[in-house]
Amino acid sequence: MKFEVKSGDISKTRCDAIIVNLFEGTTKPGGATGAVDQAMGGAISDLIAAGEIKGKTDELHLMHTLGKIPARLIVVSGLGKKEEFNLNKIRNLMGDAVRELKKHKCKSVATILHGAGAGGVSAVQSAEAIAEGCVLGSYEYKKHVTAREDEDGIGSVLLMGKDESNVKAIRVAAQRGEIIGRAACLARDMVNEPSNHMTPAHMADIAKKVAAENGLDIVVMERQQMEKEGMGALLGVAQGTAQPPRFIVLSYRGNPGRRKAIGFVGKGLTFDSGGISLKPQEGMVEMKGDMAGGADVIAAVGAIAALKLKVNVTAIIPATENLPGGRALKPGDVLKVSNGKTIEVVNTDAEGRLILSDALSYSVKQGVSPLIDLATLTGACHVALGDLYAGVFGNDQALVDSVMRAGAEAGEYLWQLPLPEEYKELNKSDIADIKNSGGRYGGAITGALFLQEFVGKTPWVHMDIAGPFMAEKTKGVLVKGATGFGVRTLIRLAINIAEEGGVA
Ligand code: BES
Ligand code: MN
Ligand code: ZN
Repeated sequence: MKFEVKSGDISKTRCDAIIVNLFEGTTKPGGATGAVDQAMGGAISDLIAAGEIKGKTDELHLMHTLGKIPARLIVVSGLGKKEEFNLNKIRNLMGDAVRELKKHKCKSVATILHGAGAGGVSAVQSAEAIAEGCVLGSYEYKKHVTAREDEDGIGSVLLMGKDESNVKAIRVAAQRGEIIGRAACLARDMVNEPSNHMTPAHMADIAKKVAAENGLDIVVMERQQMEKEGMGALLGVAQGTAQPPRFIVLSYRGNPGRRKAIGFVGKGLTFDSGGISLKPQEGMVEMKGDMAGGADVIAAVGAIAALKLKVNVTAIIPATENLPGGRALKPGDVLKVSNGKTIEVVNTDAEGRLILSDALSYSVKQGVSPLIDLATLTGACHVALGDLYAGVFGNDQALVDSVMRAGAEAGEYLWQLPLPEEYKELNKSDIADIKNSGGRYGGAITGALFLQEFVGKTPWVHMDIAGPFMAEKTKGVLVKGATGFGVRTLIRLAINIAEEGGVA
């Protein structure tokens, strides 16, 4: 999919389809939509009068032009109420529109810059959201379907500005949106990929490819080096599987004048069966995506480099499988983390926090700060917040606030949950420093409290993405399956830090 930017009258554009819009309650369309309405002899106004087009959020009305204008089809997208308008409406309407237009065999489409001006967003913001929405919404994962027809889909999207003055800036914005969208799609590909393909070694190979393409430094540790580092918790989880583990460290230095780097730590469980504390079969397939946090941080750091942001970022991914077997970790075992702490494993299915304890300890030892970890950590977080929201925890409210703001701007839903002192006793072990499960109640919180034990005083935020890492159905920017949730928040955070300075 290629993005082009021009200024001019969209009703005169030669392409398969054009996309225009309406706010809810509009009776007489103005601006570019008005021009199209006029060229169509008032057809859009007529449909509004007939009550067929209302302009509500998620409304998509497809019209055939029957030769009245050069485009074959028109999409009239609803923008919803003016006072509720935001960039996410743009991303979602473009996602819906590109899928609909693909069904109608469109190859070239043109769109106006939704909401620019009237909706309180700038042309540049709109352009970025449009490109991002197109890339995300047209995502498909068909790699393993042998009989698939290779349809081309939409090859070009033309963004039509009002005048020539800001065409350059809009072009840059569209490119940025494209890079961000593609990064989320890379994470989706990794998460959708079955675990017999997406092994820890394969994850490391993808990280190497991302590094080579974007000029990043990469270090991949194998079992021997993990032993040298004393990563007993990661090795404990990895001992039950024939797949050798990997510990991946990717670094981008966009701000060489600064010594510190912000750390993105991602859980890389390429398959989580639960281990000896075996999971029930229902829903176990989803656990091929238990490396979503790791995929997110690999994709995000690649995009941050592609955008040439003036920040330093280190992505750290402990990667392994969690399987039962003759060598597997057993309930009651005690493991030693690389920072010297001991963990009693009361449940082998609480393996994410085990591998993350070594990854966080390593990050702290390397002086990476602040730390943001992403993990499909607890079913409890999914139960608490549902499919759309990730849980956010942190030991530094200013950092939590910047992550929450980045999420809001990126269009990913985050909700802060508490880290109460009083619950720490739930993780207390009788025979070791800590145990790896605090029981059923407040499971997302006790999981986060466990991780907190391994970050020391380093400012840290934990995102539990167990809810939103997969989508149940296709809608807007989401396509059924992996979502790439978190990638866009991380990139936005880096953009904000690069533009405003601050934490890294
Ligand atoms: N990967 C799972 C959490 C998960 C479940 C993510 C469903 C996405 C969807 C994690 O390793 C796990 O099994 N957590 C346990 C923790 C418990 C044993 C303390 C859980 O949530 O049940
Ligand atoms: Mn588990
Ligand atoms: Zn897991």
